[in-house]
Amino acid sequence: MRIAFFDAKEYDKPAFLKYGEEKGLEFRFFETKLNPETAALAVGCEGVCVFVNDDVGKETLDKLYALGVRIVALRSAGYNNVDVKAAFGRIHVVRVPAYSPWAVAEHAAALLLTSVRRIHKAYNRVRDFNFSLNGLTGFDLHGKTVGVVGTGKIGRIFIDICRGFGMKVLAFDKFPAKDAGIDDVDLDTLFRSCDVISFHCPLTEETYHLINDESVKTLKKGVILVNTSRGALIDAEALVKGIKDRIVSAACLDVYEEESDVFFRDFSGHIVDDDTLARLISLPNVIIPSHQAFLTNEALDNIAQTTVENLDSFFKTGVPENELCYRCGRIEECKKERCGKCF
Ligand code: NAI
Repeated sequence: MRIAFFDAKEYDKPAFLKYGEEKGLEFRFFETKLNPETAALAVGCEGVCVFVNDDVGKETLDKLYALGVRIVALRSAGYNNVDVKAAFGRIHVVRVPAYSPWAVAEHAAALLLTSVRRIHKAYNRVRDFNFSLNGLTGFDLHGKTVGVVGTGKIGRIFIDICRGFGMKVLAFDKFPAKDAGIDDVDLDTLFRSCDVISFHCPLTEETYHLINDESVKTLKKGVILVNTSRGALIDAEALVKGIKDRIVSAACLDVYEEESDVFFRDFSGHIVDDDTLARLISLPNVIIPSHQAFLTNEALDNIAQTTVENLDSFFKTGVPENELCYRCGRIEECKKERCGKCF
């Protein structure tokens, strides 16, 4: 079986080739992202494999379906880039629900520590043989309050890490787990009370721009925001204003709402047109990796292994592992025979 692999990076290939060979899958690697214009590259392929910034909207799905593609395999947990209703009944969509929640939670903690203790400033300074400590004063995380939005797999590991630092934890989740030993509060209370807020919920219509012009004014003065979830949880322009107004003292953004045109590519030597991103990067209290939280050896291996198993189960049985729920709308009729999935 042939799979068109979009947005391919060198670090993707070894594990996918290894597990693909074991199952007789042939991957065709394309550096370009999937979108309606590039969908034609999947000609002759039964499936496509995509990442977080590929456009798997209706137009793309229509083109893939016409080419004979019957499965889209996401190499990610999040699937906000897929029009699941447009896929329903035509193209199966599978994902990797968990590959290393520790990778993301540890990265969020790394960003927070870097920001609080100015490690990014010290690193650059010492490379220039400047050993001065002026301007590097941080603060103890111990005793501070952290707010965690989304207490699923990643959020809970992040909570454990923060408790290890001696932080008080407040949390908000739309579907809070019972008896998890977590202090659940409403979002407004969390925004008003926390010294640090870390986002670990999916991007949905409800969570789009959780941080916006209005909500940013409700944050505790001096708050540090950490976003390793999806960029559009934060309105980037509202964040810039919040920083200029001295409400937000620092932001750690592994993700950015307009990242798809920029992240994962080398723009050194080029002019980047995104003024908001350029402004954020220019600020000394903003740290922006480029959607890197998932990037560990363990996670890459798990992503490849699970994705290949998802594809293999579909080609062998017609019933893929880790299929999305398409929210077909047939609440009464939907049989949900396969672990809550319908197709
Ligand atoms: P999960 O599904 O285990 O947890 C998500 C939690 O968010 C659930 O407890 C859910 O109830 C909660 N939630 C849903 N809607 C909500 C809302 N409106 N408000 C508050 N909470 C809500 O997911 P997991 O594995 O913990 O991943 C979380 C997010 O992290 C993913 O959706 C993805 O966007 C992001 N992610 C980022 C990566 C990166 O490299 N930066 C890598 C992997 C995931």
